[in-house]
Amino acid sequence: MLSTYTARSVAAPSAVITGWGSYVPPRVLSNRDLESRIDTTDAWIVERTGIRERHVVEDGEATSGMAAKAARVAIERAGIAADELDAVMVATTTADHLVPTAACLVQEQIGARHAAVFDIGAACAGFVYGLAVAKGLVASGAARRVLLVAAETISRFIDWTDRSTCVLFGDGAGAVVIEASEGRGGIRGTVLRGDGTKRHALWVEGGGSLMARIPDAKDGQMFRLRMDGQEVFKLAVPSMARACEEVLAAEGLRLSDVTLLIPHQANLRIIEAVGKRLGIDRAKVFVNIERYGNTSAASIPIALCEAVEQGRVRPGDRILMCAFGGGMTWGAALVEWSGAPVAVGRKGIAARARDLLARRARRAGGSTSPRAT
Ligand SMILES: CC(C)(COP(=O)(O)OP(=O)(O)OC[C@H]1O[C@@H](n2cnc3c(N)ncnc32)[C@H](O)[C@@H]1OP(=O)(O)O)[C@@H](O)C(=O)NCCC(=O)NCCS
Repeated sequence: MLSTYTARSVAAPSAVITGWGSYVPPRVLSNRDLESRIDTTDAWIVERTGIRERHVVEDGEATSGMAAKAARVAIERAGIAADELDAVMVATTTADHLVPTAACLVQEQIGARHAAVFDIGAACAGFVYGLAVAKGLVASGAARRVLLVAAETISRFIDWTDRSTCVLFGDGAGAVVIEASEGRGGIRGTVLRGDGTKRHALWVEGGGSLMARIPDAKDGQMFRLRMDGQEVFKLAVPSMARACEEVLAAEGLRLSDVTLLIPHQANLRIIEAVGKRLGIDRAKVFVNIERYGNTSAASIPIALCEAVEQGRVRPGDRILMCAFGGGMTWGAALVEWSGAPVAVGRKGIAARARDLLARRARRAGGSTSPRAT
């Protein structure tokens, strides 16, 4: 639940990532598989995009299911119970339904009974937008524990006969738990931008209130993702690079202060062009697009999980993230990775367990007192 309070006399708490998790569906679709369906080759796809394979959902699987799986891992890593979450946000443009939001379904699946629930619609930039919202919720005191999941089932909105788009995308989910902390670090700064005038470069025309899906709809293409690849490419590179520079400048940092750049995994050539424009060492740029393709909003948290698993992120490291997507939307976030979080009001695991039991007892007794940091 979210509740605000005023008259804070102490510095706003940091918003620290304390848990992370990801999930991709087991079914793998390789470039070779696509060769048998459309006029393309593995060599063309690898050379122009860097992608070798992607994961796609099976019938009956959708965004909220993947999101909940990633969320459970993140929550377990954070060492909290789902009903301690104050907010559940899902960054997605491919929710299971128009109503309810994907966040409502995730809340039900993980049992986050006391959380505010809402989706964030910023296409591939959704995770970066979500980090900004999470930081705001924590800094204002409205929430102490936030779950941010980014999950997409793009494969359902692809025209599988259009070789210029279907080779690019994949499905998946990534999640982080963000907690209020008295320690330093966490989400330091974010830059969010958008430009609706360029919306036709990447869009799904139908399915919304202007053109709702109707059973006898003749032109199914209206409900499929359409894209001007070259236009997107041209816009994405300078936009992401500029957002990175802006967030670093706002934090008083230089590129040399950054340990790892995790860019949205849209196309290897875009990633390399952003890196070149920034002048960052190639070894500091995280890339996993070859195995997942473009998973839209989910690409950064999936990459973050892999970077942590590979030991490429250590406490105190500064991670720069940047994304660009339909809308158009783009942005960057600077995160200082934490070791063990110093959670607000927490003295250790034993104290935390007592806290949890006391809260449960209060709830059982009908207490409705708001949480405050
Ligand atoms: C889509 C993209 C890979 C196309 O690469 P490109 O180098 O711009 O290629 P072009 O569009 O100029 O096409 C070159 C040729 O390859 C062909 N082609 C396109 N897709 C192909 C495929 N999958 N296999 C083989 N040939 C393909 C085109 O038809 C064209 O043929 P032609 O010269 O005979 O007309 C690239 O523009 C891109 O990645 N853009 C950004 C897209 C993106 O990231 N979107 C998501 C943002 S969040």
